[in-house]
Amino acid sequence: MKEKVLKLLIDAEQFLSGEEMSHTLGVSRTAVWKNINKLRGEGYCIESVTNKGYRLTMQPDQLDAYEIEQLLGSKKLVEQVFVYKSIDSTNKEAKRKAMEGNSYTALLLSEEQTIGIGRRGRQWVSKKGAGIYMSLLLRPLIKPINASMITLVAGLAVQRAIGQITGLNSQIKWPNDLVIRNKKICGILTEMSSEMDFVNYVVIGIGINVNNQQFEEEIQEVATSLSLEGGKIYPRKGLIIQIIKEFEQLYHQFLKEESLQFMIDSFNNQCINVGKGVKVEGKDQNIIGNAIRVTEEGALLIGLENGEEMIINAGEVSVRGLYGYVD
Ligand code: BTN
Repeated sequence: MKEKVLKLLIDAEQFLSGEEMSHTLGVSRTAVWKNINKLRGEGYCIESVTNKGYRLTMQPDQLDAYEIEQLLGSKKLVEQVFVYKSIDSTNKEAKRKAMEGNSYTALLLSEEQTIGIGRRGRQWVSKKGAGIYMSLLLRPLIKPINASMITLVAGLAVQRAIGQITGLNSQIKWPNDLVIRNKKICGILTEMSSEMDFVNYVVIGIGINVNNQQFEEEIQEVATSLSLEGGKIYPRKGLIIQIIKEFEQLYHQFLKEESLQFMIDSFNNQCINVGKGVKVEGKDQNIIGNAIRVTEEGALLIGLENGEEMIINAGEVSVRGLYGYVD
């Protein structure tokens, strides 16, 4: 009932009388009033004026599955939305759901993660309410070899959404980080389960430092948040919705083409590595070169000192910028 009252208030965008709500929902006015108070208790600001009714004036920045579903509108990309107060890792939960035999696509969000995972076995610090910890469980009908490109699709989507919601200009550090002033604000971890020629599922985990005001000593030098950069507190919900919208557009195009050609110029324009020195850390040796561009397949093309060019595939190596940003 609480969700239904909330939906009426969100949709109305203006005053709605208690009588109208009780009529629409088929419940008593007391029941409406009780649910309004429940919503107030959860942080929603609901103005009430005699003879006019109720009006929603502010929503808390608390993640709520029902509200996110409403804001997403028609569910094309994600069929299910799950929001957790606390979870070990949204990526882990997405994989558990996939392995349980569910066939839906989903968006999983959590207020905090107790074992947030980063790449190369690192931890992703996931403080309660401060950041966005989200995973998309998708089932793309593409060749497994092309699945890693989705990370780049997600990177550009997040870069664009951040610009639209905050006005901040972030850059993409190939293949899957976003940085502002050379400090990391977002990391993406893509995981996949596949057969030789069929993708069972892909999980794209996105972690964004949104309203963090400080970081642990170990990462202070290399991490920042949108709030620290923009001097404001940003609504996470709005950013999540914008990310999904941006991602959905790019993703559908990508599924059709199984190539990044349609977005590669935009990606290269926002890519911090392009035109700069990079150190490619391989198993046996390190290679120093100049990043020329990211290719339609999502690889990094590097110019070597001897004039030769080299293609580096994401996941094979670690690329460090030679411009101050530490990976
Ligand atoms: C990186 O190392 O840069 C990738 C970090 C990815 C973190 C996100 S937060 C949501 C999702 N769940 C996880 O456990 N990890 C990813």
